[in-house]
Amino acid sequence: MAETTSVLRGGVDLARVTKTYPSGVVGIEDVTLSVRPGEFVTLLGPSGSGKTTTLNAIAGFVTPTSGAVILDGRDVTGLAPNKRSFGMVFQNYALFPHMTIEANVAFGLHGRGLERGEIRRLVGEALDLVRLQSYGARRPKELSGGQQQRVALARALVYHPPVLLMDEPLGALDKRLRDQMQVEIARLHRDLGTTFLFVTHDQSEALALSDRIVLFRQGRVEQAGTPEDLYMRPTSRFAAEFLGESTSFTGRLTESGTLAWAGGELRGANPNGAPAGSDLALVVRPEHMRVAAGDADVSAGENRVFGRVTELAYLGSHRRIGLRLADETRVVLEERFGDVPGVSFGDEVAVCWRTEDGVLVGGGAA
Ligand SMILES: Nc1ncnc2c1ncn2[C@@H]1O[C@H](COP(=O)(O)OP(=O)(O)OP(=O)(O)O)[C@@H](O)[C@H]1O
Ligand SMILES: [Mg+2]
Repeated sequence: MAETTSVLRGGVDLARVTKTYPSGVVGIEDVTLSVRPGEFVTLLGPSGSGKTTTLNAIAGFVTPTSGAVILDGRDVTGLAPNKRSFGMVFQNYALFPHMTIEANVAFGLHGRGLERGEIRRLVGEALDLVRLQSYGARRPKELSGGQQQRVALARALVYHPPVLLMDEPLGALDKRLRDQMQVEIARLHRDLGTTFLFVTHDQSEALALSDRIVLFRQGRVEQAGTPEDLYMRPTSRFAAEFLGESTSFTGRLTESGTLAWAGGELRGANPNGAPAGSDLALVVRPEHMRVAAGDADVSAGENRVFGRVTELAYLGSHRRIGLRLADETRVVLEERFGDVPGVSFGDEVAVCWRTEDGVLVGGGAA
């Protein structure tokens, strides 16, 4: 690709990157993605799907077998990690235990020809940024897990990298700290305008933080788009089931465009244009389904199925109902309170939803 000069910094492109490890294992295959300067992009996917390999190929810790890594229009594929100016946060913090917090943060600045005063100023700024101003003289073991993670963030941000790479940075934290750090990371991203590339296997974290999500499956990009794109318009059953909860009715698409499912014919949107004869899943989100009060409550534009209540939970603002259908399909639905019929465990009920709220998708389950 031609070299270009750009006023914006922090654009990352992967062009058909493949990494085959010496053992013959394919880490990633034909990964193409484009990250705009300032964007928050999350690499999401199950264990072993290629997220770390992708991040390491961008950082320079992994050399692609083929394909190119482009930073702001410049091909950096053959460049050493320290020449790429990416900030990196590792899952295990990787702090030096015998050094103070200040020394840990300053570490990345050495060898850059900076004066002591300048180093002190930059370290102070970075510790400010993660709200650890008064912790500089401590050692890592004198900090909590969340504070150590902030130090790792400060160390990666201290030299103002145009791109910050984070590999499961919250993986080791408990739920409450995770939630707090999510808010911190979102704030840092807003304040700095730096490109953030974030790896997680937690779909709710990905939905909450990202401008865009890149979903990986077995070393390939399964789907990329905004959180809403992936949640509302999944292009495969894998994507639908990996993000958020859903019910999948499986069957074959008929000539008339309905899905021939074991319990009857169902209708749904077919945004990917699957042809008749395809084996598909009709995927429906829990918030789109409701318990029907009776025959009169179901309109012509709705699908209806029957099942037995196997799970019933009161969750404050809404209730959650699980059902098992005759063909063993498991349905999960969520309803806001209001004018909804009462149901009890073991009841036989009808569940309905608008046909346009179900999406027909292909491929295997997540
Ligand atoms: N250094 C390596 N040598 C050989 N195979 C590797 C190496 N690193 C990763 N792999 C393999 O490449 C594939 C992708 O691994 P990768 O670490 O990128 O997955 P991941 O999505 O980050 O998973 P996790 O969520 O478990 O961290 C896996 O099959 C893995 O076993
Ligand atoms: Mg990984």
